[in-house]
Amino acid sequence: MVHPAVSSLRPQLWLCFSLQTCAYKHESCACFRDTGEQCGVVARLEAVVYLDGEYLPRSQAKVSVLDRGFLFGDGVYEVIPVFGGRPLRLREHLDRLQRSMDRVSLHNPLTRSQWQRIFDALLDKNPGDDRAIYLQVTRGVAPIRDLSVGAGTRPTVFVMVNEVRQADYAGLQAGISAIKVEDFRWKACDIKSISLIANVMIRLRANQSEVVDAILVRDGLVTEATASNVFLVNRGIISTPTKSEHLLAGITRDLVIELARANGLTVEERDIDENELETADEIWLTSSTREIAPVVRLDDRVVGHGVAGEYWKKMVTIYSHYKRELGNA
Ligand code: PDD
Repeated sequence: MVHPAVSSLRPQLWLCFSLQTCAYKHESCACFRDTGEQCGVVARLEAVVYLDGEYLPRSQAKVSVLDRGFLFGDGVYEVIPVFGGRPLRLREHLDRLQRSMDRVSLHNPLTRSQWQRIFDALLDKNPGDDRAIYLQVTRGVAPIRDLSVGAGTRPTVFVMVNEVRQADYAGLQAGISAIKVEDFRWKACDIKSISLIANVMIRLRANQSEVVDAILVRDGLVTEATASNVFLVNRGIISTPTKSEHLLAGITRDLVIELARANGLTVEERDIDENELETADEIWLTSSTREIAPVVRLDDRVVGHGVAGEYWKKMVTIYSHYKRELGNA
């Protein structure tokens, strides 16, 4: 049974009682049970997603088991943050999508204005504060499971909008802990591939060590973290690894560099020896959804003074100002 509010596919709120009492028992009835049995709070409509030309409630969006994305991880993706209703660095994200698609010889089935129209429609159908657009394009559904790419396979396009918790800068100051791990991934990490099993393995290892993330090192050089780029600060100089096939060219990375330089800070893009992690005054992880997170403990060692450093504070102030301006533009 489809919830009546879902069938209209319009951005709206409706009054919901508790999950136990909701006649539809629909995933969309995510009312806040914590507030009591008959909470009667206004709950949000189930997320609406885009799949191959259609806008659907998320629970009704289905992909074939023969989709090459499902069978081989044969696809690419993007995550685009949205602040104050505006996608951040949209052009750069679509440029990177195109680069990923070119690298894997996957035809981009949509023009920029078509992508834009889908994003606008989904943002409209999924209202909220800070959000992130997730899109993925796979090589599509093949008649049989075969690595070779048959002629006429049409890419599968999936887009959804996720709510992102608003950055809590006060909370972030406490920092996060990480471990250092050998980067055993492939030599095509510049592709934003949906095949993320190596990243998952490394993240699992980090979580089993009861830390949030891992900083990766290949041949003695820092590459990135499992889902973010790495920055170091030493004696007032901010450094980050040079772009290469060993890391994803983060849009946040580029923005942080641009904003730091525009505000008189010194940034170097260079090879970073893993030993520098031990003497760094500050270490940051950057990504679209994490923004700029200070690492205050790496393996058994405290980084800097064990709390977010002064350059992190400067950078976060600059970055949040940029976000506000974007929302007001
Ligand atoms: N991850 N490196 C890796 C391996 C990543 O997966 C990401 C992003 C980044 C940072 O890129 P950007 O600044 O453009 O977000 C670096 C996204 C957020 C994810 O997979 O959810």
